[in-house]
Amino acid sequence: HAGHDMGAVPQGTVVLPEGEVLRELPLLANEASGPGLFKATLTAGSATARFAEGLDTPILAYNGTSPGPLIEAVEGDRVEITFANRIDNEASTIHWHGMPVPADQDGNPMDPVAAGTDRTYSFDLPEGSAGSYWYHPHPHGKTAEQVYRGLAGVFVVKPKADPIPAAYGDTVLVFTDLRLAADGTLPDNTMTDLMNGRVGDHVLVNGQKNPTLTVPFGAKRRFRLYNATNARFLRLSFDGAAMTIIGTDGGLLEAPVAAGDILLSPAERLELVVSFDKPGAASLATLDYDRGWMGPGRPADAGLTLLTVNVSQTEADPVPPLPDRLRPIAQLGAPAVSRRFVFTETMAMNASGMEMGFLINGAAFDMKRIDVVAKAGQVELWEIVNEADMDHPFHVHGTQFQVIEHERGGNISKPAYRAWKDTVNVARGETVRLLLRQDRPGPRMYHCHILEHEQLGMMGVVDVQ
Ligand code: C2O
Ligand code: CU
Repeated sequence: HAGHDMGAVPQGTVVLPEGEVLRELPLLANEASGPGLFKATLTAGSATARFAEGLDTPILAYNGTSPGPLIEAVEGDRVEITFANRIDNEASTIHWHGMPVPADQDGNPMDPVAAGTDRTYSFDLPEGSAGSYWYHPHPHGKTAEQVYRGLAGVFVVKPKADPIPAAYGDTVLVFTDLRLAADGTLPDNTMTDLMNGRVGDHVLVNGQKNPTLTVPFGAKRRFRLYNATNARFLRLSFDGAAMTIIGTDGGLLEAPVAAGDILLSPAERLELVVSFDKPGAASLATLDYDRGWMGPGRPADAGLTLLTVNVSQTEADPVPPLPDRLRPIAQLGAPAVSRRFVFTETMAMNASGMEMGFLINGAAFDMKRIDVVAKAGQVELWEIVNEADMDHPFHVHGTQFQVIEHERGGNISKPAYRAWKDTVNVARGETVRLLLRQDRPGPRMYHCHILEHEQLGMMGVVDVQ
């Protein structure tokens, strides 16, 4: 709960340069001397970014860059990453979003790393764990702010044998959003930010506004899309090119699925193959999506160009086709237990302003409370019921799940494909049913991934025994 005065949303007055060549994320160097080990250090601390001509923006960064360095490991590897927290006076953690790590290596809020101290996270990447993961801080009460100030990075686990042709490349596109005051600083949250989650004025791709990429016509490209924004829903289409979905949060699908437009809610990922079959310009742009907005200042969702691709006249060398089958995905068996989680918002005016609650089953997060006890290795049916007026993207730590159905107003729909996911949007008024199994014991968080909602209490703990 938090009491705040109503405040106007500051409007973006700063103009950011557009059209620069898309930069690749800097790769985190592996310091291990032998194979099978990924060893490195991530240092979080203050840095200065230059988003707009002549303006210095104080941010937080991992190893000096935001988004953080790209981590690339291979399934079967052991990972040992030392986290050096050099953020002034703030505890932090590194949470390995979506990754099958032991509970005591998960960087959850119960396990803070004090300012000025180091800790090493170690875990093994099991066979079959190839996927598009990410990392970000998760300290109690500070997650949302540390992420919007710049702390988030991509962690790709590659398979030992990849069915996607190497000629397609493998390009990470990480979306963040930014709000800049006229002096270049990052303004504090307003009441609107706390209610809706903080939505910035500019959507950035790998830290750049509407960067460009040039490809020959006939080319196919593999993209990993990451929504690393605190609260912005991205409904996207690729004008002038054809999108095929090949993977989700937890890796490849069984078979490619053609897509017209896609919805990437906060924290979700998708892997795409995009075919550039005609010369000219192709652009990845946003479409309108009504995620439920409270109060004034609903940002314009539609018509933002995130990436411009120049498809040249030169024809690409012929590339192998996308295989029809990508990998098998086993179905999780019949659930032994079923649980229901009801998401609600409460808003009331009192003397000090608006009092808000973001609740799961009527309760706000309490670090000292266990909400649910589960058995390791047992399949459970989780029913996430959104009785609130906004969409809430649901995320659970420690495992990947399979969505089995969505229900809205009595209508049940099945997902178009079986997939491993760790984050799923639960639209307002909707119920999502999913199957999950936790294999490793210990406390695990589940929460709304609008990070301001997580911070205001929309989170619980399942203790796996
Ligand atoms: Cu991406 Cu609990 O977080
Ligand atoms: Cu939420």
